[in-house]
This record gives sequence, C-alpha cells and structure tokens, in this order.
Amino acid sequence: MRAIQIISFALCCVVFSQKAPAQNITFNVQANKPIAEVQPAMWGIFFEDINFAADGGLYAELVKNRSFEFFSPLMGWKEVKNENATGKILIENRGTASENNPRFAHLIVDASIGSFGISNEGFRGMGVKEGEEYNFSILIRNDQNSPVSLFVELVNSEGNKIGECKLDNFTPGWKKYSASFICKATNAKAKLNVLFQGKGALDIDMVSLFPHNTWKNRPNGLRSDLVQLLYDLKPGFIRFPGGCIVEGRDLANRYQWKNTVGKVEDRKLIVNRWNTEFSHRSAPDYFQSYGLGFYEYFQLAEDLGAEPLPIINCGMACQYNTGEVVPINQLDPYIQDMLDLVEFANGDVTTKWGKLRAEMGHPTPFNLKMMGVGNEQWDEQYIERYKLVAKALNEKYPNVKLIASSGPSPDGDRFDYLWKQLRGLGGDFVDEHYYQSPEWFYKNASRYDNYDTKGPKVFAGEYASHTKGGTAPESRNNWEAALSEAALMTGLERNAAVVQMASYAPLLAHVDAWQWNPNLIWFDNLRSFGTVNYYVQKAFANNKGTNVVPVLRDNQIIEGKDSLFASAVIDKKTNELIMKLVNANSSSKTVDISVQGVSINAKFVTAEVLQAESMADYNTLDFPFKIKPKAISIKASGKNLALTLNGHSFYVLKVKYK
Ligand code: AHR
Repeated sequence: MRAIQIISFALCCVVFSQKAPAQNITFNVQANKPIAEVQPAMWGIFFEDINFAADGGLYAELVKNRSFEFFSPLMGWKEVKNENATGKILIENRGTASENNPRFAHLIVDASIGSFGISNEGFRGMGVKEGEEYNFSILIRNDQNSPVSLFVELVNSEGNKIGECKLDNFTPGWKKYSASFICKATNAKAKLNVLFQGKGALDIDMVSLFPHNTWKNRPNGLRSDLVQLLYDLKPGFIRFPGGCIVEGRDLANRYQWKNTVGKVEDRKLIVNRWNTEFSHRSAPDYFQSYGLGFYEYFQLAEDLGAEPLPIINCGMACQYNTGEVVPINQLDPYIQDMLDLVEFANGDVTTKWGKLRAEMGHPTPFNLKMMGVGNEQWDEQYIERYKLVAKALNEKYPNVKLIASSGPSPDGDRFDYLWKQLRGLGGDFVDEHYYQSPEWFYKNASRYDNYDTKGPKVFAGEYASHTKGGTAPESRNNWEAALSEAALMTGLERNAAVVQMASYAPLLAHVDAWQWNPNLIWFDNLRSFGTVNYYVQKAFANNKGTNVVPVLRDNQIIEGKDSLFASAVIDKKTNELIMKLVNANSSSKTVDISVQGVSINAKFVTAEVLQAESMADYNTLDFPFKIKPKAISIKASGKNLALTLNGHSFYVLKVKYK
C-alpha cells in the first residue's frame, strides 16, 4: 500500500513538472554594442564631519579641545593634583590679538613636590597601540622664566602609565615644544596627563598628541586604517565637506573653507552642526577643529586618485533649521569664496591662494574640475542664488563643472520644480539624494531608464537604503539594505549616459559617538570595518569598466522581473566583460548567460558572490568579515556561462574576451 502511494506521488510530480517545465532564464549580453561610456569618476565617496568622522575619526589628533576654544573652555579636560601639589587654571582670552585662537590656559603651579596640571579624555577615550610611537606637542609661553618642567603621561583606562615624555627649559614668548615616546600597551580608552613640576606660572595652548603612524606618516595626519579602507574602494571622487554641514544651522555656522587652511593653530574652530541636532544622540562636545581642512582634503583626494568635489555654501543655511539666506545684494562674498577656492586648488603659486597652497606644501595644482553649489537647497531662493553663482564661476572658470541641488527628496514638488528650472538653465549636474526603504531601492532600479540623456547629468550624491535594523547601531547596515543598494546600482550603472557620479552616504561613524545611521564604515578608537554596504560599493567601484553594454532578457532590460537585476560593462583596457547580478528572491535561480559579439576565453572567468545567512546579518567590529565577497567558480563553454544565483545574493562576474 505504501509503495503504491509513493509511486502515485512520483507520477503526480512528473505530471506537474511536465505541465510547468522549469524555465531556463537566458541573459544576452551584447558585448560588442557599447551604449555609453562609464565616467572614470563614476563611483565616489561622500565625506561629512558627522558621527565624529573628522575630529575623533579620520583626523588622527587624540586630544579633544586642544586649544580651549570649545564653548566650555575646559570641556574634555580635568584638573589634576598629585601628592601635595596645588595650582590654578585661568582661561585667558586674547580677543583680536589672536582672533582665530583667542583662548589659552594660564597655569599657576605650586608643585615643589608632586605635580599639577590637566588631563585630557580624548574623543570617548584615546586609542593607542603597544609599540607605536606617539608625538606630543604644546605651545608654551614662559614669560616669567618659571623653573617648571612638564611631564607628559599616557595612562590606560585603569590609570596606569603606558607612555611618557618630559619637556623643560621653557622660554619667554610663545614657542612650540615637542617630544615623542613609545606606547607600552594597547588601550582604547587612554587619557593624556599634562603635568607640571616646580613653582611658577606659564601659558599653554594647542596641546596635541598624534600617532606617528598616520596615513603616509604625515604630521597633522589622518588615521591610516580608515584611509586604507577608503583607498581600497578606489573612489572616483570625494564629495566634501557634506552634507548639511556645508549649510550650517544658520549662516554663521556654515562651512567656510578659508577658516580651514593655513597654520593649524590659526584655523578658527566652530561648533559642529550635528552637536545637538538630534536630542537622542546629543554630542555637546562635537566641534570642528578644522585640523582636517581643505588642504588635507585635496591631498587625500590626490592620494586616493579621486577627483575632488567640494560643495560650497551659496548664501543659504539649512532649510530644515533656520533657513537663513543672505540677501541677494550681499551674495558677493560667498561667490568670491567659491572663486578663491578654485584659485587655492588650481591657481599659480604667484596668486594669493595658490601661494598659500604652495606654502602649505603643494606647489603643483590639485586640478579641481567640479564644484557643488549648495547642499539640499530648494525653492526660488536657491535658483536665484544658483544663477548668480553659476554666472560668476562660468565666466572666470568655464572648465569647472557645477553641480546643482534638487533638494532633499528624490521626487515631489520641490524636486520637480528644481529639475525643471535646472534643465532650463542647462546646468552640468543635478544632485539627487535618496534615503529610502529597500522596496524603494528595488523599484527605482529602473528610475533612470527613461531620463532625458540630453539635459544635466545626474549625480546621485547621497543615498542609502534604510531598514529598521536591530538594537546595535551597526545593524542598520544589514544585508537587506545592501542587497537593495546593489540592485539600484545596476540601474545607475546601466544608465551611465545620464548618471555620471554616485556616492553612498554618510561615510564614517564612531560606534560611541554617532548621530546618523546607517553609515558605510564604522570604527572605534582602535578598530574599523567595512559594512556589507561597503562591499557592494567596492564591487562596483573596483569593477567599473569603461563602457556599458546591454544585458537583456527576452529583449528587455533586466530590472526586477523575477526579482533579478543585472548590468554589464566592458573594460577596453583589460578586455574584460564584467557583469553585476542581483537575485533579490529568496529562492535560487539558474541563468544562462550568452555573450554575443565577442569570443570569451573560458579559462579566464572569475566570479565573486556576496551573500549572508539572513537578511538581518551585518558586520561588526568584533566580526568585521562576517559578510564579505567569496570567490566561486563558473562553468563556461563556447559563448555561454551558466550560473545558479543563490537566493538573496549579489554576484560580480568577469570574463576575458578577444
Ligand atoms: O548624510 C547625512 C545628511 O543627510 C546630510 O548631511 C544631508 O545632506 C542629508 O540630509
């Protein structure tokens, strides 16, 4: 009886499968029919000082509030008295005598025995590593010739000394004193004690501690692990400095590039606009020291082989905050700042700003080719200001391309109004931003298939798929989000004739000090990792090719049917065909890829898959490579490649052709 049941069940299956035979899915790649050039700068990065991305992050300075210019001058500092020592700290303000760095600390020290001084907590602690060299420096003025010595101590979270150096012979007048030491133990939450012995009074300012091991070992440098992650992305451009930080909460709080160049001690610190923007993630100790300023930015872009893409304030503060605008008849200083930035980047060393660049160490130009006018601006007041800025820039620097805003949303009245106006004005690029759900991302993989290729080009200047995530901050950077970004990016890639630059946002976030979530790279004081979204970005940027070629299913673009998404490029320099394939379905799909118009070399087929055990999976500081690309082998014969796309997976497939 049981045997009969099994046979009849088997027969049913045969009948069922005969009625609905499994359909072969065939993708035809027309490798000999390039439809658009891929711009070398296509896949870039968006840097904004949000989430402690600059101070406390990429900028390797370990001392917070080094120049006592925070609203509370001793924020981040604590008085320290050892043994019987006593003393006093007075904050003095020089006012216009030192306009950009008016405050300093006057210390009265009575420490014949013991020591008196101050201790700095760093940015949620200081991350220091065993065996590494650290460079301490300080400005001291000893006008009274006080016989005091300075003992610098690095202490771990338990208060034990793990590094030290000594300085003395302080003379009248301000002078910089420096010393280095090797750190004896690794600690993520170290502190720096700046302790004086002896009796007398003196002034201190610009107290600084840097690892020697910065990116390219540069003084005033950047954290090498974070730059390495950026370098590995091979970004085509870097958007900088944002983001809303360009606009400021009000005009006084806007980003002014001239305050960020020249001697570090003369850069005018400003409160970071993300300081108390979100009450649930308030960071009252968040300021912009501008140690990482426009010079360091241009230098970073050069190091990464990326085009600089500065975004400049156009006389408008954040329209979500005060929405302050400068009257049209007072816009000239803003326009002049933009013109001067081009001179700083590209000008001859005999020009005012080109000379400053040379004095800072870079006589050759940075070759700036494009600029953004405002961030997320909208309405008539933006168009009015954009027109004046564009006129002045086009007249003086006709080769610098301009990027205009389409507001904060990827659709709606503001967006439509701005696009219409900007098409009319014949601008170069329009910046679109989308922070949306994974569903939106899948749906919008075809967004650009019908865009007008003749008008301004699209710069997808900020985007990220937003899911709910779990309780850990990094959990919003999960596979569900990243897979939907990969799907959308096939649509960006396919439409290279209209979409010519794209950047995920934001870039960096400190796990203990973030304001915005999700982000591409997370870090603490010692470690950093690329999210799974990072690996999606890397897959596109490292495999951008030179020309888009059609990849079709039943003569149709592949943009979501059966939850499959695909795009293809060829690289004329390496003779490679590169495909990106997304299966957003939970079940696997087998596809036959038929490559037309070229002969593929079956010996040179490589493929990588990115997938996770669950859509909620994400990388963390403890498990940074939980989800990362894995190499797989592919069957190839003649012109065909056969591939089973696992459920919820993203593939990059490369094959050499003749
Ligand atoms: O990326 C974070 C913020 O999102 C940017 O500052 C702003 O442009 C956007 O609204």
